[in-house]
Amino acid sequence: MAVYGQGREMRQILGPMSTLDPSRIPAHVAIIMDGNGRWARKRGLIRSLGHENGVDALRRIATRSAELGIRYLTVYAFSTENWQRPRAEVDALMGILVSALKKELKTLKDNNIRLNAIGDLDSLPKQCRKELEEVRSKTASHTHMTLTLALSYSAREELVRAARTLAEAAVAGTIAPADIDATLLRSALYSHPLPDPDLLIRTSGEYRISNYLLWQIAYAELYFSDKLWPDFTADDLDLALLDYQSRDRRFGLTQEQLNALS
Ligand code: IPE
Ligand code: IPE
Ligand code: MG
Repeated sequence: MAVYGQGREMRQILGPMSTLDPSRIPAHVAIIMDGNGRWARKRGLIRSLGHENGVDALRRIATRSAELGIRYLTVYAFSTENWQRPRAEVDALMGILVSALKKELKTLKDNNIRLNAIGDLDSLPKQCRKELEEVRSKTASHTHMTLTLALSYSAREELVRAARTLAEAAVAGTIAPADIDATLLRSALYSHPLPDPDLLIRTSGEYRISNYLLWQIAYAELYFSDKLWPDFTADDLDLALLDYQSRDRRFGLTQEQLNALS
C-alpha cells in the first residue's frame, strides 16, 4: 500500500476499518527525522529554523507515541557524518539541543517519559553533555516510554566499538573468542538493553538508512513518508502505524508456520 503523507484524507479513504488496533502497537519505533533543511529552504529561512521546527515535531510525535503506548521511541538527531556540515549549522544544532533539553523537561515529566541517549556522547560539547546528563537523571524514574536520542551516532562505529570491546575482553581473558555470539555482541552496542525496533520511519522522501541502527533493524518494518520532518504530524504517525499493522512479519518462517503458532 502506498501511503505517503496524506494524513486525514487517507484515513477517510480507508474508512472505519482504519482505526489502530491497540493490541498491535509496536513496542519500539525508530525514526530518521529528515528534511529540516529543505523545510526551511522552501520558506526562504535559514536551516537552523528548520531544526527548531523539527523540535516541535519531535514533541508532537513523542507525545502521541506515549499516548498510544509505544514503549520505546528512538530518534536520529545527529549523525557522526553530520559533524562535517558547516560549522555554523553544527553550532546552531548543538545550541538547539541544549535549549530543547531545558524546555522539554516538562513534556517528559507530563508524559512519564524517560530520556536516554546513544552515540559517541563524549564528542558532544560540554554544555550538551551536562544538560543531557541532567535531563537523563531527572527522568530516570519515568516508566511509560523511553525516548532515546541518537547523537553523534554511527551504526558502523557502534559495531566497530563493540568488536573492540569484545576483543579487549578476550585478550583480558574475561571471555573466550568462542563465547562471542549475537547476544554478546548485542550487549556491547550503544543501544543495549533496548529491544530491536519493530518499525523504522524515515521522512522527507529519502529511501536510505544513512548509517542508523544497522544491527538493530535486521527485522524492522520500513516506512517512508514524503513529509518533511517539521511537517510530520500525529496523524502521519498514526498512518505509519496503520500501515505497520497491515503487514505480516514472518521472521523467515512461512505464513503457514506462523498461522499454526497463533
Ligand atoms: C535532518 O534534517 C536533521 C539533521 C540531519 C540534523 P536535515 O538537516 O538533514 O534536512 P535536509 O535533509 O537537508 O532537508
Ligand atoms: C540522517 O539524515 C541523520 C539524521 C536525520 C540526524 P542526513 O540528512 O544526515 O542523511 P543523508 O545525508 O541524507 O543520507
Ligand atoms: Mg537530511
